[in-house]
Amino acid sequence: MTANPVLEVRNAGKVYGVDETLVTALHGASLSVAPGELVAVRGASGSGKSTLLHLAGGLDAPSTGDVLVEGQSLAGLSRKDLARLRRRSIGYVFQDLNLVPSLTAAENIALPRELDGTSAAEARTEALAALAEVGLREVADRFPDEMSGGQQQRVAIARALIGPRRLVLADEPTGALDSETGEGVMRLLRARCDAGAACLLVTHEPRHSAWADRVVFLSDGAIVDETTADAPAVLDLGALT
Ligand SMILES: Nc1ncnc2c1ncn2[C@@H]1O[C@H](COP(=O)(O)OP(=O)(O)O)[C@@H](O)[C@H]1O
Ligand SMILES: [Mg+2]
Repeated sequence: MTANPVLEVRNAGKVYGVDETLVTALHGASLSVAPGELVAVRGASGSGKSTLLHLAGGLDAPSTGDVLVEGQSLAGLSRKDLARLRRRSIGYVFQDLNLVPSLTAAENIALPRELDGTSAAEARTEALAALAEVGLREVADRFPDEMSGGQQQRVAIARALIGPRRLVLADEPTGALDSETGEGVMRLLRARCDAGAACLLVTHEPRHSAWADRVVFLSDGAIVDETTADAPAVLDLGALT
């Protein structure tokens, strides 16, 4: 028996702009991610990877098609219910991190839990545990501008993994990290999937897609290929990106 998917993207299209500024960023993409699955998304710059992740995370609505998280169509939710679903069920690592500059590392991580009604003390305890998991317990009380790029990135990852998130979306989360720290992040994502979460990861690094159960390729807004990470074909794909 196959478990119900955590994420289902059904024939989703996305058009930005109007008339002469119109860009079709995604053409009818379909994708399911089951509990326990780590799916890597690859493709050239501008191929629609971030757009796909935005739709999957309910940050933006598809122009056509539908996105379901835990069986719930995002199109049917009020803004308030959508915001709650995002806080509770979806962890998001943004390509540009999006840490709140006026909050410390621990406060940034605790914020979604506090917004969700967890007490400040409990949220801080969870935040410190999440920081320890990414090997950064010592930066808890530093502000983003007092941390290196790699530290900020790990804080953003800790924020995405805190609490019982069932869907983790990560847009090139290892970009500013050295290879050893990047591997550590992949290990964390893999562990979260092995514990039952579904994870969609945009990455340029073939060695990071090797941690995935499947790799999806985007080209000009269309999913052109899907392969299992351990299939021989993936060994040749490093040359393509
Ligand atoms: N907010 C936006 N407004 C207009 N065009 C956009 C916007 N976001 C992305 N695009 C365009 O959509 C296409 C896909 O972008 P994106 O999803 O960011 O690709 P990737 O993450 O693969 O680099 C690109 O042509 C990009 O310029
Ligand atoms: Mg992108």
